[in-house]
Amino acid sequence: MRLVSNNSGGGGGGGLQPPKASSASTTGVPRWILAATGIVAALGVAELTRGRKVAAEEQRRLPPAEVAPLAAGDPVDGLISMDDVASHNSPESGLWVVINGEVYDLTDFVENHPGGKNVILKNAGKDVTDIYAPVHPPTAIEDNLEPSNHLGQVDPKTIKVKQASEESEKDKKRRLALENLPPVGSMLNLDDFERNAQNILTDQAWAYYSSAGDDEITKQQNRSSYNRIWFKPRILVPVGQVDYSTTLMANVSGADTKVSLPIYISPAAMAKLGHPDGELNLTRAAGRMGIVQGISANASVGLDEMLDVRKPGQPTFYQLYVNKDRAASERILKKIQDRGCTAVMLTVDAPVMGKREADMRAKGEVVETGGGQGGDPTTSGGGVAAAISGYIDPNLSWDDIAWYRKTCSLPLILKGIQSIADVEEAAKRGVEGVVLSNHGGRSLDFSPAPIDVLIELRQKRPDLFEKIDVYVDGGVRRGTDVLKALALGAKAVGLGRPFLYAQSGFGEAGAVRAIEIIQDEVERGMRLLGITSLDQLNPDMIDILPRFFDPNLSRSAPCPPNSFEG
Ligand code: HEM
Ligand SMILES: Cc1cc2nc3c(=O)[nH]c(=O)nc-3n(C[C@H](O)[C@H](O)[C@H](O)COP(=O)(O)O)c2cc1C
Repeated sequence: MRLVSNNSGGGGGGGLQPPKASSASTTGVPRWILAATGIVAALGVAELTRGRKVAAEEQRRLPPAEVAPLAAGDPVDGLISMDDVASHNSPESGLWVVINGEVYDLTDFVENHPGGKNVILKNAGKDVTDIYAPVHPPTAIEDNLEPSNHLGQVDPKTIKVKQASEESEKDKKRRLALENLPPVGSMLNLDDFERNAQNILTDQAWAYYSSAGDDEITKQQNRSSYNRIWFKPRILVPVGQVDYSTTLMANVSGADTKVSLPIYISPAAMAKLGHPDGELNLTRAAGRMGIVQGISANASVGLDEMLDVRKPGQPTFYQLYVNKDRAASERILKKIQDRGCTAVMLTVDAPVMGKREADMRAKGEVVETGGGQGGDPTTSGGGVAAAISGYIDPNLSWDDIAWYRKTCSLPLILKGIQSIADVEEAAKRGVEGVVLSNHGGRSLDFSPAPIDVLIELRQKRPDLFEKIDVYVDGGVRRGTDVLKALALGAKAVGLGRPFLYAQSGFGEAGAVRAIEIIQDEVERGMRLLGITSLDQLNPDMIDILPRFFDPNLSRSAPCPPNSFEG
């Protein structure tokens, strides 16, 4: 299915691509800030109105054969009124929405919507641009809808302008925080970015980024468990010159990847919720700073766009969720191989999504109870976050490694290994790498902290570090965390949320700053530890305390106040 343009000149009419939105309004405030805070300034609307009038003009100038038929009852000038849109707000009347001034009929598409049907049912009949734009790649409409689903353009005269006076206190606080971002250099550690993100993100975006499974114990323990490891620093070692570069997949012929720092960006979806350039910020920052970006299969920016902004030779790991429709995964694998990605990170810890209640609440999800009939276990229990993974094959098994090998020749890294037995199995099957990870605590609560698994692996199977690249992610927030993991034998360490938070508001500069912070902490830590290169790190340089459950963690689900109101 493809929604193709039949008019290179832009403008209205069925089957036409929506016009590109400009990023700055004449108020000087970027339009995305206005959109993010739910406000469209009157001036901005005037600009939009002008744009659409021109577009309507262009439509009238098209030869008749190129103008797709408009819905019955449309105004003569071909524009659709908001009242008309509003009356199509149910499966019976039809499910119409407005996105960037274009009207779409989603009645047939709703059941197949990868984000679940509820969000469309709830918002049909409205302008959904603010909800839609940050969570969809630009080609989503073109790739998924039929030309006939595009009904035309909305009549701008009928749009009710939301006045600044309607701005809620919360939105105002958020807008002001965004307009008055502190200098990026005032971010001294990764937690500073997290605090800043909490001030500027919408409730939904914050919930999506920060939430984790059930009581969020694993998410918290991921970080606490780094406290088990203490250093045994050596002194009076000349540390004037230190080298913190390393090589990933050094033993995989043709895939050895030199990086400036032993960290990488863990693949994480929906960066556009934090900044309009989304994942492009991460690709550019990784290129500038010489580290690897893990590209999420659910990125909010198109894959080609990201690959296009790489520097020549910039390494990237593509994160794959295997599709129930294997042919779809095969197409992606072929593409990323052709386009020069370095390796594939196959995520194996999310056959179904974890139960992320904060995310569900923020989206106002009301779960279909099924009246005792039971639901589809692969999509129920996680709201929109669960439905997003609807294409992921829950029946993936070890035998599918053979399928992967037939399909793609890039090195394979299994992401989401949570036990020693599975590292052993991966090594036995010749997989090139594993990421000890529990999806940042977003999958199974009470899955062990990855650093605890790494300690156990070092104690029980030190030989495996020679056979397979071991990576680790989850709860890494300090350069010292990186050094601890490397002392235990990890090749590099991934960071997920810190990069989403860092690019929120700040864009590329924030992501670069986050890398600089870790770089500074790693470099400083090496000097204070008495080493000058990463290969000098070894288990003798650390003390490991017994495994513990952090007594400060509360065993009750995070429950925001007033969560059952409206
Ligand atoms: C216009 C047609 C639409 C298409 C083609 C479309 C397509 C998609 C796709 C492909 C995804 C999965 C994203 C990914 O895995 O990369 C998705 C997720 C999603 N969509 Fe849509 N969508 C459409 C309309 C809408 C509308 C109208 C809304 C809201 C009113 C919406 C809200 C969402 C949400 C909330 C998610 C999940 C993101 C998350 O977990 O936060 N979509 N959609
Ligand atoms: C908002 C968010 C989205 C994520 N999306 C993906 C994804 O699309 N694919 C994936 O394999 N892992 C995903 N992850 C997991 C990360 O790759 C990584 O394992 C995790 O964030 C590491 O924990 P940390 O956030 O404490 O650094 C996501 C994590 C977060 C927080």
